[in-house]
Amino acid sequence: MYTPILETERLILRPLCVEDAPSVFAWASDERVAKYMTYPKHETIDTTLEWLRSIDHSSDADYDFGFVEKTSGELIGSGGVYWETDRQQWRVGYNLRHQSWGKGYATEAAQEMIRFAKAELNAVKIGSCHAVENTASGHVLEKCGLVFHHYSTYQKFDGSATFRCREVLWTKDGEELTHHKGTQMLRTERLLLRPFRSTDAEDIFRFAGNPKVTRYLSYQPHQSIEESARIAAFWEQESKETDKYNWAIELDGTVIGSINVVQSDGLWDAGLGWQIDLPYWNQGIMTEAARAVVDFLFREVNFHRIYAAHNTRNPASGRVMEKLGMRKEGVFRQHYFKAGFGTGDSQKYGILKEEWLDWKGTEQERFYALC
Ligand SMILES: CC(C)(COP(=O)(O)OP(=O)(O)OC[C@H]1O[C@@H](n2cnc3c(N)ncnc32)[C@H](O)[C@@H]1OP(=O)(O)O)[C@@H](O)C(=O)NCCC(=O)NCCS
Repeated sequence: MYTPILETERLILRPLCVEDAPSVFAWASDERVAKYMTYPKHETIDTTLEWLRSIDHSSDADYDFGFVEKTSGELIGSGGVYWETDRQQWRVGYNLRHQSWGKGYATEAAQEMIRFAKAELNAVKIGSCHAVENTASGHVLEKCGLVFHHYSTYQKFDGSATFRCREVLWTKDGEELTHHKGTQMLRTERLLLRPFRSTDAEDIFRFAGNPKVTRYLSYQPHQSIEESARIAAFWEQESKETDKYNWAIELDGTVIGSINVVQSDGLWDAGLGWQIDLPYWNQGIMTEAARAVVDFLFREVNFHRIYAAHNTRNPASGRVMEKLGMRKEGVFRQHYFKAGFGTGDSQKYGILKEEWLDWKGTEQERFYALC
């Protein structure tokens, strides 16, 4: 399709032409504008002309637009949407002359190009990336509905600079954001995290039958091994579902507790719950298990947000959340009610994938090994 003319409230987006060279050169030779772009700063207008001449306006893969400010008639920036065969997605990019920054023009232009890609190019995936320190561009992309996907790096075409970047993504119905993998076996320094089996009933009864362990949990203590056997059979069955996450925490061959996703929208976030038998408290075991699970859920499943909450009278659980690097998000008053126990306030904590991956660096250290 020939690159069309698009219009927004304050801008006309139209194909670029060689007559645009002086305007384009003015910003492409400006270090402040070119700094995070993949093109090296233009040293002469010949480079600009060469680029403008190379644009194929009838391409079905590249749509380059000049952004014209309606009130002044001036060309204030350019950008486009480009097909990426390797990722099977469209990529959006833009740059604006320095004097037009801070007026919402990049967002206005990017939103229109994205609308065009969705409506006319039937885009189901649109990506972009921005240097981590280029937070202004991050805000533009966020306002366009693109969300953090992973950290990566990019280089200028001539290799003169490398940037750590946030890859962001929009997908039509959220696919590509999460990749469910089910309750995989994870090994940590001391523990094996694995799906429950129906044969775990006795071990489950040991902690689930103890009122001290269940005091701040939603369920009443199990009354018999048969009750634990029923839940073990249910969990074994459930472990075959790839969007369910419920690990038995095994230490030296004994199941001493559990950690699971208690709530999730299946696409974006996951709420964790955990329990461990009394003799094992305060030995860092839940922190070790939870680090592995959070690492797995962010890296492998690609959830974007993980949260947990504890009764404010149960601070040890809150301490585990803190040791995971989670941030306090608020107290929900009288959020819990348990028959026979009354009510309690809930302190919520959460952590974002980008915070976790940033904190952990990229790939160096994992908190688990897949078995
Ligand atoms: C909450 C629970 C999972 C913690 O497991 P754990 O293996 O003992 O946790 P860790 O040893 O990794 O960490 C516990 C931390 O809490 C601290 N802690 C213990 N009692 C505490 C208290 N009364 N006040 C504040 N901190 C306390 C410990 O000192 C430790 O922190 P530290 O490493 O900084 O010293 C465990 O106590 C449990 O299973 N309780 C019953 C079920 C439950 O309440 N689940 C949570 C529901 S939200």
